[in-house]
Amino acid sequence: MNAHRFLFLVASARREGNTELLARRAAASLPPSIEQKWLHLDEFPLSRFEDIRHHGGKNNMYPQPEGNEQLLLESTLAADDIVIVAPVYWYSLPASAKLYMDYWSAWLRVPGADFRKRMAGKHLWAICVQSDEDPKRAELLLSTLRYSAEYMDMQWGGELLGNGSKPGDVLRDQRALAAAEHFFQTEAAAVRR
Ligand SMILES: Cc1cc2nc3c(=O)[nH]c(=O)nc-3n(C[C@H](O)[C@H](O)[C@H](O)COP(=O)(O)O)c2cc1C
Repeated sequence: MNAHRFLFLVASARREGNTELLARRAAASLPPSIEQKWLHLDEFPLSRFEDIRHHGGKNNMYPQPEGNEQLLLESTLAADDIVIVAPVYWYSLPASAKLYMDYWSAWLRVPGADFRKRMAGKHLWAICVQSDEDPKRAELLLSTLRYSAEYMDMQWGGELLGNGSKPGDVLRDQRALAAAEHFFQTEAAAVRR
């Protein structure tokens, strides 16, 4: 049987920031039998997304991905669970995460990728940090991901929201740290069964 795979996509524009720290805490509770792959989206930049959906004829299909795009597509398809690890930027997703999501639209139209069918049933999760104290201000980012999961017939895993501004601040957010310990619990238990 294939190992269960988690893909963590880190969208912070700096290394080892609050979102990554919080995500590492949550991931620490996953059993070793679950494979974890961590990718920093800024290390795998994608080109500008081009919308060719309505060019007509065969031209509305997208070419076979290459380079970073291919790596992100293959990593996405290989994962059972996809975790978007994203700070709140202007109440929304950081540009790298948004661009990655835009590419889902292309991948739906890559011949042979079978993207819609293969995404269906995977879990999508969000781990986010914002400096704002009000959790409602992260709602736009979170609903973007929830609606996207629904559109793709994916399951919504859940959201983990922390608070902090400079790197390390989230380690003072006791509520978020406690929630991180149990965040993946049901998924980990289901894999163990
Ligand atoms: C471009 C940018 C936009 C931001 N916009 C928001 C925002 O809308 N709301 C908020 O609460 N914090 C905002 N922040 C603060 C970050 O969410 C906060 O510093 C977070 O801890 C960064 O996560 P990281 O340490 O993982 O990079 C913004 C930060 C940057 C750099």
